[in-house]
Amino acid sequence: MDRVRSIAVTGKGGTGKTVLATLLIRLLAERFPGRVLAIDADSAMSLPYTLGLELKGTVSEIRKNIIGSREAKEKLSEGPTKSVMRGILAHGGGFDLLAMGRPEEPGCFCAVNELLRYGIDTLITDYEAVVIDGEAGPEQLNRRVLKSIDVLLVAADMSARSLETAAGIIRVANSYDEGLRVKRAGLILNRVRGDRPGDEVLRRIGLEIFGILPEDDLLNEYDREGRSLLELPLDSPCPLAAREILDRIMG
Ligand SMILES: Nc1ncnc2c1ncn2[C@@H]1O[C@H](COP(=O)(O)OP(=O)(O)OP(=O)(O)O)[C@@H](O)[C@H]1O
Ligand SMILES: [Mg+2]
Repeated sequence: MDRVRSIAVTGKGGTGKTVLATLLIRLLAERFPGRVLAIDADSAMSLPYTLGLELKGTVSEIRKNIIGSREAKEKLSEGPTKSVMRGILAHGGGFDLLAMGRPEEPGCFCAVNELLRYGIDTLITDYEAVVIDGEAGPEQLNRRVLKSIDVLLVAADMSARSLETAAGIIRVANSYDEGLRVKRAGLILNRVRGDRPGDEVLRRIGLEIFGILPEDDLLNEYDREGRSLLELPLDSPCPLAAREILDRIMG
């Protein structure tokens, strides 16, 4: 089997997508310094905070410039879109960050998503590993923004609703039709307290479980204070569990 290069994180809102993506980016940057691309594909733009980075620009801003300027449009259609995307990358310790950003005006995300998809497709080949912090729900799979992904991690807490959302997303990911190429999709159970769920619970969920993240008070405190999760001690519960998840999915 080919080595895993692209990992996307999705799931219901608030289930820990950004936390998980951040920890994976940190651990991958340790393995492949300078060869990791982090992509914030969520318009809420949380990843720059958890990664402690200032953005230089966003995909959404690129789109706005194109709309506003014929010159920019022509330049882009001549082909250097990749270098324009490269120009807005923020550089962290061992990784780069591309952010989708917020749309400037209300309305459809289609065009931004399309540009983002193009950015992902062209930039991905320049890196050893790519981690995408996706939007909640299955929309970005449906729109093929998350298209050719090696591993899709679907975060859920133990609530029935988040598990149901996760099951729906995994169903879409596994449908494997019309250009959707997700090689593997599985569940990450987050904020698990005490013992890991028993076999009976796991059977009831009926989804493949790629890993478990425990409730981590220190992580929560860092997040509440707006501190970068890159400063979180690596021997605290979530980073340790994230390392196990990464080892498992990278094989
Ligand atoms: N394992 C954990 N232990 C403690 N707190 C956690 C854990 N996972 C997530 N949290 C907390 O839960 C909140 C939501 O996490 P996070 O922002 O990663 O979720 P999300 O799925 O990205 O949310 P959104 O849908 O808004 O993007 C944060 O305050 C975070 O600190
Ligand atoms: Mg998030």
